[in-house]
Amino acid sequence: MRLFTTTAGLRRYLEGIRRVRNSEGRAIASSSGSVGLVPTMGSLHSGHLSLIRRARQENDQVVVSIFVNPLQFGPQEDLQQYPQALENDSQRCQQLGVDVIFAPSASELYDASHVPEDSSQTFVTRVIPPPEMVQVLCGKTRIGHFEGVATIVTKLLSLVQPDRAYFGQKDAQQLAILKRLTADLNLPVHLVGCPTVRDSGGLALSSRNQYLNLDQQRQARAIFVSLKQAKTLFQAGQVDRASLLKAVKSHLETVPHLRIEYVELVHPDTMTPLEQIEDAGLLAIAAHMGSTRLIDNVVLRNRQAIIAIDGPAGAGKSTVARQVAQQLDLLYLDTGAMYRAVTWKVLHSDVALNDEPAIAELLSQCNIELTAGTEVGSPCQVWVNGEEVSQAIRSAEVTANVSTIAAQPSVREALVKQQRSYGKKGGVVMDGRDIGTHVFPHAELKIFLTASVQERAKRRQQDLKNQGQQSMNLEDLEQTIHERDVKDSTRAIAPLQKADDAIEIHTDSLTIEDVTAKIIDLYHEISARSPN
Ligand code: PAJ
Repeated sequence: MRLFTTTAGLRRYLEGIRRVRNSEGRAIASSSGSVGLVPTMGSLHSGHLSLIRRARQENDQVVVSIFVNPLQFGPQEDLQQYPQALENDSQRCQQLGVDVIFAPSASELYDASHVPEDSSQTFVTRVIPPPEMVQVLCGKTRIGHFEGVATIVTKLLSLVQPDRAYFGQKDAQQLAILKRLTADLNLPVHLVGCPTVRDSGGLALSSRNQYLNLDQQRQARAIFVSLKQAKTLFQAGQVDRASLLKAVKSHLETVPHLRIEYVELVHPDTMTPLEQIEDAGLLAIAAHMGSTRLIDNVVLRNRQAIIAIDGPAGAGKSTVARQVAQQLDLLYLDTGAMYRAVTWKVLHSDVALNDEPAIAELLSQCNIELTAGTEVGSPCQVWVNGEEVSQAIRSAEVTANVSTIAAQPSVREALVKQQRSYGKKGGVVMDGRDIGTHVFPHAELKIFLTASVQERAKRRQQDLKNQGQQSMNLEDLEQTIHERDVKDSTRAIAPLQKADDAIEIHTDSLTIEDVTAKIIDLYHEISARSPN
């Protein structure tokens, strides 16, 4: 691990890495040669470490910055007292396999003559986020704070030029503002939001928690409990601001030493205050326990979760997806059945199978619907314009023609539109090549299921044997699978893509049941992480 305290040292090191990467012709967004940045103010706790672990999984190089940024502290705030523990932080980073710590002094990043004592009045160029996003929640009392955050994060992104940068959902307003900033300024980086890490009693971890004594920590857990209660109310159908805020406040008011700064309901992306939750709402709290300021939040979404499973052919996606759906009582969105339904519709019209414009026209008046099977474990039912076709789409005639239909880009486009309409209600599991990146980029759980070429060849050989078909030798099968991988990753329509926030599962030494159980655990973990 390297420690840099100067921008010049960091820059030289990163330039070296990029030279190697470019000479090897690696793709910028691929995980090989990629750089992940985790900006922090140090005094690292398990919340920070979860970001670093995630960055370690997804990148070749991990840079952690440790910098207590004077620009984001108001004149009355705790800049001078902010906890610092560089030695301890370095050890933790080393244990997690961090490549670089960047820990500059204030004068290394800002010309000292430009940062007077009162950091709210500087001559430093500032990055100004949209006022609407800043004037609510923490921005109301922490004047200039988000300008300070936006300015330092822009500087860090410009210095490190990472492919991905990692931020915690605990600071939801910071995350939303930074996402807007990178979109508005077209910065070529993907911001990854990571779930809030809590202690065993639910208190969100924060560097400032070390100011709390045990009794204060116990009392502060009321924040988590109140968010949980609000979530339960929301799930029972309560969507209006007044009742959700009232429930939270009346719980917090029972805690003797907790002083509420705000309890607010805003849209999680825009920070616009909400009277009612339409699709999603961010319920956020700031409160003071003694002299320590604490924040926490929960996102309330008006739909059930979506699980997106992508991966190369032969990794077992569809079998696993069906089993996950069945065990979690979610709908398996069977794309194969949808293509069959289109084929059935075309065969029952006077449109020719290769007349793409006419098929597109036909599809624009066609509503394909999937509903859960009538019995546990039975396949979904398929409806075309209200007519049940679950059996009819399995005919030999449909089987013989479905690939001609599936090859047409406009058919795929129309079906993606219909699939996305399920995203509004949620409660679906879907597998494919670009579900987590293209069809459902907001899926709560994204899985990238993969297995080595050798393992997939073995499985294919076994399948052929089970079906009583002529077996192929392993080497030929490996070659075919390798060629298919290359084709799937480079095809013009729906190429195989791993979402940045997908969790990769290597299935080489796992059974279908193992993989299913793992995904179900992850699903429960995700549901448990927010105050459900
Ligand atoms: P800091 O408070 O040190 O937090 C660094 C990162 O860790 C932030 O993205 C924050 O959201 C995340 N984090 C903190 N507590 C967390 C928890 N309990 N669970 C998950 N993530 C958590 O936030 C800052 O520093 C600064 O504003 C910074 C972005 C570094 C700019 O100066």
